[in-house]
Amino acid sequence: MTTLDDSTPAVPPLVIAIDGPAASGKSSVARELAAHLGWTYVNTGNMYRAATLAVILADADPTDESAVLEVIDRTEFTCPVRDGRSVILVNGADVDGELNSEPVNKAVSHVARIPKVRAILLDLQRGIGRSQPSVMEGRDIGTVIFPDAPWKFYIDASEEVRAKRRGLQGLTDSVRDRDRMDSTRKTAPLMAAADAVVVDSSEMNLAEVVAHVRALLASRSFPETGPVQAPAASA
Ligand code: DC
Repeated sequence: MTTLDDSTPAVPPLVIAIDGPAASGKSSVARELAAHLGWTYVNTGNMYRAATLAVILADADPTDESAVLEVIDRTEFTCPVRDGRSVILVNGADVDGELNSEPVNKAVSHVARIPKVRAILLDLQRGIGRSQPSVMEGRDIGTVIFPDAPWKFYIDASEEVRAKRRGLQGLTDSVRDRDRMDSTRKTAPLMAAADAVVVDSSEMNLAEVVAHVRALLASRSFPETGPVQAPAASA
């Protein structure tokens, strides 16, 4: 049984928090940045997608909270780090190839708004971020998972650009519907942390966004070379 752990360690975690709406480009930016730094890349959306997949495979209704929890309670989620990225296993199985299916796209925001599902995944996410330098992306990393992260970014883009980027990925889900549900839910809604730097990527390509974020990091106590230490207070 996993519990919500709200203890705040004295030393800030070596975590770069990257939040933002669907298809804003945050995953690509986080992945590139993690590879550049040699830090662990953590895609927390994949964790919600894995929980949703478990619900779908069990033939449970993703909009029925007790049915979802019944499945989640008997499912084991683990997050080993492989090749520099955290992978989500469902009952020991790697489900990576099934996480972006249409049924998962449609159901994930329903599952992600259930507080107990979020509490279980919060424990996993904090476990990774506290044990190794990580670039972690999602919706609530800077606000809820690591409010003490020294470096926080909120990557945004216009709705039109995001819909186009989604299409280029070969995906047809409505980012607008998902964003509406993700930003209006009661628990840990999608929002920029008060101390996050907001980056509008609408007019930038991936290389430009990564370069921009690296320049912002360099101006916020983040050395380009040598050992990295978290500053005592949020930058
Ligand atoms: O990043 P993504 O589009 O793969 O995320 C899938 C869904 O998971 C998203 O619609 C909302 C949810 N999510 C969340 O609620 N909190 C996070 N930290 C990450 C994702």
